[in-house]
Amino acid sequence: MTATPFRSAVVPAAGLGTRFLPTTKTVPKELLPVVDTPGIELVAAEAAQAGAEQLLIVTSPGKDAVAAHFADSSELEATLAARGKDALAAKVRRAHELIAVRTVTQDEPLGLGHAIGCAREAIDPAEGCFAVLLPDDLVLPSGVLNTMSQVRAEKGGTVLCAFDIPREEISAYGVFDVGSTSFGDVADAPDVKQVRGMVEKPAAADAPSTFAAAGRYLLDVAVFDAIDRITPGAGGELQITDAIALLISEGHPVHVVVHRGGRHDLGNPGSYVRAFVDFALEHPDYGPELRTWLAARLAD
Ligand code: G1P
Repeated sequence: MTATPFRSAVVPAAGLGTRFLPTTKTVPKELLPVVDTPGIELVAAEAAQAGAEQLLIVTSPGKDAVAAHFADSSELEATLAARGKDALAAKVRRAHELIAVRTVTQDEPLGLGHAIGCAREAIDPAEGCFAVLLPDDLVLPSGVLNTMSQVRAEKGGTVLCAFDIPREEISAYGVFDVGSTSFGDVADAPDVKQVRGMVEKPAAADAPSTFAAAGRYLLDVAVFDAIDRITPGAGGELQITDAIALLISEGHPVHVVVHRGGRHDLGNPGSYVRAFVDFALEHPDYGPELRTWLAARLAD
């Protein structure tokens, strides 16, 4: 595929970050560093790499610092360059150069479906589809959005990303009811499935499968009308899962790409620490020493 598959990428970042209090009294959770880079910059890089031209950050009042991270920083860059710190200046510049950023405000925390609906004003219906990346989720290695775009090119409609996870963890997620389908030359593609239904945070015994929605969506613009027609669901919130389930019930094609790689959840301190350590271990400056220290610490 040579054409850019989607133009806009929506990043919902309006939450209060309650699990990271007290830090999130003043620092948005999306700006917490993974080693030295905020999670949202990693997600922006993923969107840009997959072809997105604009990043639509859905924020709430008081979270201006999230968009400010992507603003022009030429003064700081000039100071660093004057001190001979060119590598650092390049790191500082990266966020601004990655992708054009625009913010959309969600005034009330009414759920993920509502947050995504707030981006409607910034997306031209002629774009056909748009991506959503949940900044809490790091999907590794990046590249799943490219595969999802290929699936949309062949199948049309909406394409999501699934992880096969243990059933005891399933009720924290949107869960897919799936059937087999063809993709490319393969009659029964192992990693592409047709979605017959979707349910948000089911009890483990009721879950239709162990395929859970990871935070990557390639949504047809038809989803905006569906968001207008849903009512509050799990947790009393307007759920994107319910809008997708509505589209499925109306015959809209929905498929998943089953991602077999890794994943990190930056959304709570326990799993955030894991992501931080994982990235730090791979870092050329900090990795070797951290490895030695960790081994000694664990042997204590
Ligand atoms: C959201 C979605 C859920 C999805 C999950 C992935 O839930 O509603 O369908 O599986 O993200 O991380 P949340 O984590 O916001 O409760």
